[in-house]
Amino acid sequence: MARFGNWLEERSGWNAVWETIFLRKIPKVNWFYTLGSATLFVALNQGITGILMSLYYVPSPDHAWNSVNYITNELAFGWLIRGLHHWGASAMVVLAVLHMLRVFLMGAYKYPREITWVTGLVLLLLTLGFGFTGYLLPWDQKAYWATTVGTRIAGVTPWIGDFLLRVMRGGEELSAVTLARFFGVHVWVLPALLILFVGVHLYLVIRNGISAPPKRSE
Ligand code: HEM
Repeated sequence: MARFGNWLEERSGWNAVWETIFLRKIPKVNWFYTLGSATLFVALNQGITGILMSLYYVPSPDHAWNSVNYITNELAFGWLIRGLHHWGASAMVVLAVLHMLRVFLMGAYKYPREITWVTGLVLLLLTLGFGFTGYLLPWDQKAYWATTVGTRIAGVTPWIGDFLLRVMRGGEELSAVTLARFFGVHVWVLPALLILFVGVHLYLVIRNGISAPPKRSE
């Protein structure tokens, strides 16, 4: 193993990357500082379980519900994969908000971490976007009407509401186009943006180091 390590190091300089990421020094912190990593872990869970479900899910009004039903009730461990994805979605929102609260209460958003904070905000919006677009995919009554209401809410935005509603629905009403659109955004657009922003977020976390918990000045 050590020989392979040396072989790789000579050709890639991998040790420096490993040390920067995993052997960096951090201040004495508490459990609340693990919330970002917990969010990242759930995001990974969402990616893996989502990819597995995409092997069986069919994004068309005729087959979406049946394919989800098949995943849940017939596919080996399908109930587990879908359950992890379903509960993971809520857990990710809760953890990201708790992580944000920790950052806010510890003042970790201040200089020099302003960009980390802003990229974090984008990550939170993306997380909510995943929830909104994913909710329609089972194409059952709950999904259909929730999205009817959700897109209607966007539709009453001043000035651009009508435009937003039609872009989201792909027309005046919910249809096969809406489902295709939500699916495309859920599995391609949002994951690409999430990977990009998580990359920048983590680069900045490592570049600037973790902030030390504030101390009372006596
Ligand atoms: C998908 C969502 C997110 C992921 C995966 C994520 C991931 C992480 C990780 C792994 C860390 C380092 C460990 C830690 O401090 O907990 C971190 C730090 C940080 N995050 Fe996030 N984060 C997310 C959302 C957010 C949000 C919503 C905000 C605020 C609006 C935010 C702002 C920050 C800041 C300012 C730091 C630096 C903290 C410090 O140096 O003490 N992040 N994030």
